[in-house]
Amino acid sequence: MRKKIVAGNWKMNKTNCEGVATINELKSLIAEYKEVEVIIGAPAIMLSDLVKAAEGSNIKISAQNMYNKDSGAFTGEISPVMLKAIGVNHVILGHSERREYFGETDAFINEKVKAALAHGITPILCVGEKLEERESGKTLEVNSRQVKGGMASLTEDEAKKVIIAYEPVWAIGTGKTATPEMAQETHKAIREVVREMFGSEVADGTIIQYGGSMNAANAAELMAQPDIDGGLVGGASLDAKTFAVVVKAGN
Ligand code: PGA
Repeated sequence: MRKKIVAGNWKMNKTNCEGVATINELKSLIAEYKEVEVIIGAPAIMLSDLVKAAEGSNIKISAQNMYNKDSGAFTGEISPVMLKAIGVNHVILGHSERREYFGETDAFINEKVKAALAHGITPILCVGEKLEERESGKTLEVNSRQVKGGMASLTEDEAKKVIIAYEPVWAIGTGKTATPEMAQETHKAIREVVREMFGSEVADGTIIQYGGSMNAANAAELMAQPDIDGGLVGGASLDAKTFAVVVKAGN
């Protein structure tokens, strides 16, 4: 039985003070939901304060990106060593916004996945097709390529630690959610790609989250699908009360 993992992705929203206030509010709202793992992906500048705010709660704090080197002349970047040092044990990698606006490739994302794992940080590897790719029948091809690229050359033990987030790009921030059946079909196909790469033990244990306009109204139905193991939630994670409803659905 796979547990559900519900992660918020705040993207580039909130100041440090607002972030801390949201964690403080969320802590008590979700305290009773013990069956679900809760993660908040926040901007790097507030990670340290959020880790402190979340102490003693069941909220884990995640970065939204990192570089694949430990240290050095890489102006503006943050490293896995820095994340570990402040108690951050998760990182979102390969989000479609990073691929689209910052030119991140599968090969580069793979380097980051390997760097995260080498430091004991759990990567949340994002994959997903664009609208024109879905419409031209390339959904499975694109997701397969991104999973294979992002998880290339991992050992089975490493692969077991990766969380995959399937986020159809056309559903992100658009209010257009994939139907539960549509999402389930792609989740199942992604699990088969993992099976092909790493075998059944890894594939059957891999958490595959759905992302793309998941909200308080649709979360329960999506997470009821057999291959949907949680969510990566953008807009609906910004407000603690709304996000708590999504977490409850995962519980
Ligand atoms: P959304 O974003 O929930 O606002 O669609 C999801 C994501 O990009 O992770």
